Amino acid sequence: MTQDEMKKAAAIKALDFVEADSIVGVGTGSTVNHFIDALATIKNTIKGAVSSSEASTQRMREYGIDVFDLNSVDDLSVYVDGADEINEHMHMIKGGGAALTREKIVAAVAKTFVCICDESKQVGVLGDFPLPVEVIPMARSYVARELVKLGGDPVYRQGVVTDNGNVILDVHNMSIVDPKGLEQSINAIVGVVTNGLFAHRAADILVLGTSEGAKVVKY
Ligand code: 5RP
Repeated sequence: MTQDEMKKAAAIKALDFVEADSIVGVGTGSTVNHFIDALATIKNTIKGAVSSSEASTQRMREYGIDVFDLNSVDDLSVYVDGADEINEHMHMIKGGGAALTREKIVAAVAKTFVCICDESKQVGVLGDFPLPVEVIPMARSYVARELVKLGGDPVYRQGVVTDNGNVILDVHNMSIVDPKGLEQSINAIVGVVTNGLFAHRAADILVLGTSEGAKVVKY
C-alpha cells in the first residue's frame, strides 16, 4: 500500500465513529480530504459538519454537506482529524496545513477526538516534524526570539497566511519530552495564538492506516 492508500484506509474506517443524526467535527489535510470523500457517501444520515478550515468547508460544500458555524452548535460527539506526528500517549503535533488554531478549537468542543493517519506518523518522541506556531504578524520577531530561548530554531513559513490572518513559525530541532509543559510555555508567549502541540487535548482514538489495512488503537 502507498502512504496515500494507508491514509484513505484510515479515513474510511473512521466512518465507524460517526453517529447517525449528528454534527461531525472535521479537520484539515490530505487524510481528512479522504474522510470528507467518505463522509459524502453517508451525508444523508448526518445533520452536517463543523469545519476547521476554509479548505475543508469548501470541499464539504461541493459535496452538499451542510457546514455549521461552531457558535451555533452545543454538542459535537466526534472530531476527526489527521496529525503530523503522534506518540503513544496520543499527544500530537499538528498544523502542517496551517489550520492548527481552528483545529484546536473544534477539538476542544468535541467529546471524542478520532485521529486518522498513516503509520509513518507514529513516533516515540515528538519533534522531528517542525512544530507549527501561529503568531500575530506584528509579534513574529519577538516570538521567534522567545522560541530560541526555549531551545528551538524557528523558521518563518514564507507566503502562508492562516485562515485567521496570522503567520506561522515552524520550530525545528526540538526534542519534545514534555509535550504538555512545552504546549503551555509556548502558549504563554505574548503574540502566540496557538501552537501545534495537542497534548492537553490529545486524541482519544487513533485509526492508523497500515500496510495490512486500518487498525483502531486506544491506549
Ligand atoms: C493541518 C493538520 C493536518 O492534520 C496534518 O498536517 C496532517 O496532514 P495530512 O493528513 O495531509 O498528512 O494539522 O493543519
